[in-house]
Amino acid sequence: MHRRMVRGISNLLGLFVLFAGMAPGSGVSPGLYTNMSLHELGIKGESAMLPCTFSSGHPSYNGTIVVIWRTDFQFKGPLIFQCSITNSSSGDHSSDNCTKSDSETHRYRLAGDPRQHNLSLQIQNVTYEDKKRYYCRVNLTNITGEAWTDLTGTDFTVVARPKVMNLTLQGNVSVGRSLECVVEGLPLPNITWDRPENEEMPTSVETELAEQNLILSNLSVSQNGTYTCRAQNEFGCDEKSLNVGEKPRDKEPGFLLLVLLVLLILPCLGTAVAVFICMKKKGFLLRWKVTTR
Ligand SMILES: *[C@@H]1O[C@H](CO)[C@@H](O)[C@H](O)[C@H]1NC(C)=O
Ligand SMILES: *[C@@H]1O[C@H](CO)[C@@H](O)[C@H](O)[C@H]1NC(C)=O
Ligand SMILES: *[C@@H]1O[C@H](CO)[C@@H](O)[C@H](O)[C@H]1NC(C)=O
Ligand SMILES: *[C@@H]1O[C@H](CO)[C@@H](O)[C@H](O)[C@H]1NC(C)=O
Ligand SMILES: *[C@@H]1O[C@H](CO)[C@@H](O)[C@H](O)[C@H]1NC(C)=O
Ligand SMILES: *[C@@H]1O[C@H](CO)[C@@H](O)[C@H](O)[C@H]1NC(C)=O
Ligand SMILES: *[C@@H]1O[C@H](CO)[C@@H](O)[C@H](O)[C@H]1NC(C)=O
Ligand SMILES: *[C@@H]1O[C@H](CO)[C@@H](O)[C@H](O)[C@H]1NC(C)=O
Ligand SMILES: *[C@@H]1O[C@H](CO)[C@@H](O)[C@H](O)[C@H]1NC(C)=O
Ligand SMILES: *[C@@H]1O[C@H](CO)[C@@H](O)[C@H](O)[C@H]1NC(C)=O
Ligand SMILES: *[C@@H]1O[C@H](CO)[C@@H](O)[C@H](O)[C@H]1NC(C)=O
Ligand SMILES: *[C@@H]1O[C@H](CO)[C@@H](O)[C@H](O)[C@H]1NC(C)=O
Repeated sequence: MHRRMVRGISNLLGLFVLFAGMAPGSGVSPGLYTNMSLHELGIKGESAMLPCTFSSGHPSYNGTIVVIWRTDFQFKGPLIFQCSITNSSSGDHSSDNCTKSDSETHRYRLAGDPRQHNLSLQIQNVTYEDKKRYYCRVNLTNITGEAWTDLTGTDFTVVARPKVMNLTLQGNVSVGRSLECVVEGLPLPNITWDRPENEEMPTSVETELAEQNLILSNLSVSQNGTYTCRAQNEFGCDEKSLNVGEKPRDKEPGFLLLVLLVLLILPCLGTAVAVFICMKKKGFLLRWKVTTR
C-alpha cells in the first residue's frame, strides 16, 4: 500500500502549477507569478532541488533582491534560507551572499540565479526530516510592496534506496541456525535470498519496522554455504553475502598427499633396507652408520 502511494506521488512529478504570487494581505500584483512544482522527490543522502522561478513587472530592476525560503507555513514557518543580491554591475555588492550556503546547516544553497528570476533551492544530503512543504519568497526591496510568496508550496517527499545494514548468523548447529538481514529503504524494499544449491526450501520471516524504514528478514539455515540477502525497491537495490559454517570438506587433497607421501617414502625405505642388508653382508655396517650421522 505504502509503495503504491509513493509511486502515485512520483507520477505527479511532471506536474507544474502556474499561479499568481501574492503580497501578504494585499491583492495580486499584475504580471507577477511564481512557477513552482507541486511535488518534488528527494533521495536520502543525495541532493535535491526545489524549483522556483518568478516574474515581475519591473524587467530592468537594478536594486536589491532578497530571497527567502521557509518550511511548513507561507509566512510564519521556520526560515531555512535567506540571502540578498544586487542586480546591477555597479553599486555596492558587499552584502551579496546568494552564492553561499546557509550558515547553520550548510545544506541549503541557491541553485538558481535570482537576477535571472530563478530562486531554485538545492538541499544537500537529504534526510527523512526534510520531508516538508517548502515556500519560496522574493522581495524586490527597492520597490515598496514588491514582495511575493509562493502560496501553495512544494510538497517534498523523501525516499531511500535499499541498503543492507546487517547480515548476521544467529544460533548454532545444536540449537539451530538462522540468518538475519536488516535492510533500510523507503518504500520498504522486498527481500529475496540466494542460498546454497542443495539447501531445502527455506522459509524467511519478515518483520517490518516501518517507523525506522527498516525491514528484517529471518531465514532458517540448515546447510553450510554462501547466502545472499538481496533488497529491492523502485529506487535501487543492494545485497550482502555471508559464508555460513565450513564448506563441505574436500577430502581429496589430504588423501592424495598421504598417498604421495607413502609412495615417496616406501622406495626410500626399501632402498635403505636393501643398502643396510647389503652393507651388513659386506661387514660395512659400522662405517655406514657413521657416515649417515
Ligand atoms: C514553469 O516551469 C516549467 C518547468 O520548469 C516550464 O516548463 C514552464 O514553461 C514554466 N512556465 C512559465 C510560464 O514560466
Ligand atoms: C537603476 O535604475 C534606475 C531607473 O530604472 C536608474 O535611474 C538608476 O540610475 C539605476 N541605478 C543603478 C545603480 O544602476
Ligand atoms: C536599493 O536600496 C538600498 C537600501 O535602501 C540602497 O542602498 C540602494 O542604493 C538602492 N538601489 C537602487 C538601485 O535604488
Ligand atoms: C546573507 O546575509 C543575511 C544578512 O546578513 C543573513 O541573514 C543571511 O543568513 C545570509 N545568507 C547566507 C546564505 O549567507
Ligand atoms: C533554475 O535554475 C536551476 C539550477 O541551475 C535550473 O536547473 C533550472 O532549469 C532553472 N530554471 C529555469 C526556469 O531556468
Ligand atoms: C536584473 O537585471 C537584468 C539586466 O538589466 C534584467 O534583465 C533582469 O530582468 C533583472 N532581474 C530582475 C529580477 O529584475
Ligand atoms: C549526511 O547526513 C548524515 C546524517 O545527518 C551524516 O551522518 C553524514 O555525515 C552526512 N553526509 C555528508 C556527506 O554530509
Ligand atoms: C521587503 O524588504 C524590505 C527591506 O528589508 C522591507 O522593509 C519590506 O517590509 C519587505 N516587504 C515585504 C512585503 O515583506
Ligand atoms: C548490526 O549488528 C551489530 C552486531 O550484531 C549490532 O551491534 C548493530 O547494532 C547492528 N546494526 C543494525 C543497523 O542492526
Ligand atoms: C549453542 O547455543 C546455545 C544457546 O545460545 C548454547 O547454550 C550452546 O552452548 C551452544 N552450543 C554450541 C555447540 O556452541
Ligand atoms: C521487488 O520490488 C521491485 C521494485 O518494486 C520489483 O520490480 C520486483 O519485481 C520485486 N521482486 C519481488 C521478488 O517481489
Ligand atoms: C557446517 O558448519 C558447522 C560450523 O562450522 C560445522 O559444525 C558443521 O559440521 C558443518 N556441516 C557440514 C554439513 O559441513
